[in-house]
Formats: sequence, C-alpha cells, structure tokens
Amino acid sequence: MTLKDKRVLLGITGGIAAYKSAELTRLLTRAGVEVRVVMTEAATRFITPVTMQALSGQTVWTDLWDARVPDNMGHIELSRDRDLIVVAPASADFMAKVAHGLADDLLSTLCVARRCPLMLAPAMNVEMWENAATQRSLQLLRDDGVLLAGPAAGDQACGEIGMGRMLEPAQIAAEVDNFFQPKLLAGKRVLVTAGPTEEPIDPVRVLTNVSSGKMGFAVARAARDAGADVTLVSGPVALATPSGVARIDVRTAEEMFEAVKKAVKSADVFISVAAVSDYRVKNRASQKIKKGNGGLSLELEENPDILSWVAALPKPPYCVGFAAESENLAQYAKEKRLKKRLPLIAANLAQEALGADDSAITLYDDRGEHPLGRGPKLQLARKLVEHLAGALPQKK
Ligand code: CTP
Repeated sequence: MTLKDKRVLLGITGGIAAYKSAELTRLLTRAGVEVRVVMTEAATRFITPVTMQALSGQTVWTDLWDARVPDNMGHIELSRDRDLIVVAPASADFMAKVAHGLADDLLSTLCVARRCPLMLAPAMNVEMWENAATQRSLQLLRDDGVLLAGPAAGDQACGEIGMGRMLEPAQIAAEVDNFFQPKLLAGKRVLVTAGPTEEPIDPVRVLTNVSSGKMGFAVARAARDAGADVTLVSGPVALATPSGVARIDVRTAEEMFEAVKKAVKSADVFISVAAVSDYRVKNRASQKIKKGNGGLSLELEENPDILSWVAALPKPPYCVGFAAESENLAQYAKEKRLKKRLPLIAANLAQEALGADDSAITLYDDRGEHPLGRGPKLQLARKLVEHLAGALPQKK
C-alpha cells in the first residue's frame, strides 16, 4: 500500500472542523501513515492535544519555544523528515499567513521553512471564504504550488449554507492517498463507464442488473490518482464522484452509448466497466402496464455493444473490457477479449464481485494471464492502472 510508512505532519488550526482532524488522524494512521501533529494555540481551544496525542501515538507540538526539540529548532526539525504537510482545518487566517509568508507561531513557521509539499484543507464560514482577501490568498497559494483539498459546499456550523465546509476526513485521506500515487497516467485522457443501465418497461418499471458501480468508480479514482484526466460515464448508482473526475450520468444503454461516442473522441484509454444491459424492451409502454389475467410477455431487442464499437474505431483508444462471468471464467474472458478485439480484459466472478467491496481479478492480454489477486476494489483498480500504463504506447 502506498501510504505505508509515509510521514505526514498534520497541522491543525483554530476552527470548529478541528474535531474532524481526530478522525483524519485515525484514518491516516490505520493506513500506515506516521502522523506528527502540530496545533496552533487556537486549535487547542477546539480539540485537546491529549486527544491528538492518543490518536497519533506521538508527542503533539504547539509551541515555537518548546525546549524539548534539540537546539530549539522545532520550526525546522519537525518538518525535515516529513513527506507532506497537511493542514486541516486551514482557517482563513492561516491561509492568509501562508500566502504571505508570515511566521509568528510554530505551524506557520514550519510551513515557511518547509522543504516538502504542503496541502491545505480550508474550513470557514461562507462569507469568509468568499471574502476578496481570502480569494486573493487562495490565488497566491495556488500560484505557489500549494495543494488544496476542498473546501466543499453545504451546511455550516454557524447555521449558514455555502462554500467553506471542510472536506470529510475520508475525502482528505483520499487526497493524501492521491498525492502519494505514482503518476503513471500523467497527460493521458481516460474514459470509464460504470454501474448498471436501466431499460424502461413502462414509466415506473425497469430492466436492470445488480451492478453497484463500485469497481468502475474505483477504476476512475485510480486513473485520476495516477494523474489522468478522467471522464466517468455512469449508470444509476448511489456513489459519490471521486474528486477531480468529470462525471456524466446516464440511464439506458443507448444514453451510455451516446455519451461514450462524444467523450471517446479525445480519449487515450477506454475502460468499460459498466454492466450494460444487453437488451432493451422493444415497445416500451407509455403508460403504466395494468395487471391482466395470466402472464405478461416482453419483447426485447439487442442494445448496441458499446465496447465492441469503440474497439472497432479506425483509431481506437487502448480498450480495456471487464468480463463478469458466473462460470468458466478464464475461457469466457479469453474468448470475449478476442471477439471484441481488446488488448486487455479484466475477469472476475460475477457472483463474488457484484455489489461487494472486494473482488478477485485476473487480467488477460497478448502475453497471457496476470492474476491481480483478491482485495478491495480500489487496490485492484490501482493494479489494473499500473498494468495498463505499462502497456500504453509511449508517444508523448
Ligand atoms: N459491454 C458493452 N456494451 C454492451 C455489453 C457489454 O460495452 N452492450 C462491455 C462491458 O462493459 C464489458 C464487456 O463489454 O466491458 C463484457 O461485458 P459482458 O456483459 O460480460 O459481455 P457480453 O458481450 O454482453 O457477453 P455475455 O453477456 O453474453 O456474457
């Protein structure tokens, strides 16, 4: 796992979102990160150093004049062995200080004296966020290469609604994870399809399947974390869009096909994870079908095979298919790869993978079989990205 043994300095400034830093610390330490916490004086009004010490398992630093640091060089020493400084929450005041190089306490001094990258997770009231001075700070920070995680819009502790909410701890942890991923797909444009499709029978009924979209979303996130520009065409799912991914929502296979036709023009890679419905209802009823006597027959007609269409383009992107089979996995997957003329196919057992958080995947390409093992879908998606990055033509 990429986060194992990474060393992060977590800075906490004064804001009500400081309580979320406790959870962030737990998530990071659980992923194997060694977290050193530095708090401003104001932060200690919101959450105690004792809490942060217990969660990080390390001394928490708050004072520029702390005599425990050898040579009294805490403002320098505390960040020298770090891979990344993350300040969460970063208040408007703190953003302004960093933007202007002010250094009047331990955390701000550490930021000015740093050699490692800095990521800020802003948290403040909407008016403070929109204030011209904060927006100026933001621009300066961006120009200086400071990484920004959020903020998000939504309910605020003060009762107002708007931009300025700190990202949730899991989202900040995901941004940290992203930072440490090798940028194997930098400069590449990746198109991913995910989820099921829904084929209407009448205005209230649909034909669909039990795909949750989790694998496709994991692939989109892994590609984005690898530095790609990612477009995700998704059927109806209940999943949050991975940050930095452009999402297009569709319902039917035909809508998915239209969205893919448009987006594929600029794609270098197409990863078709969606469980596209092979059939649609031929004469869908415009009004709700009433119960009659006896059974009901539906006439189905075939949907376009989106992946085969893309793979048959004169200059196709690098195409990756997914084969979810309930039996004869290797044989069906190999046949599917040849039939659809794909350089790479990922095979998994449908009954194990659909809807689950974990899966087991084997890749098939011209060189043969490559088992990726069993594990969380994001972990498998990262291995898939690594494999395909190695197979892409190196033109740029
Ligand atoms: N696929 C697609 N469009 C379809 C059907 C499938 O793009 N109409 C893609 C899927 O996204 C997947 C691959 O083709 O990447 C294989 O899908 P699968 O449903 O397993 O294969 P089918 O070709 O539909 O074959 P079958 O259902 O008979 O197993």
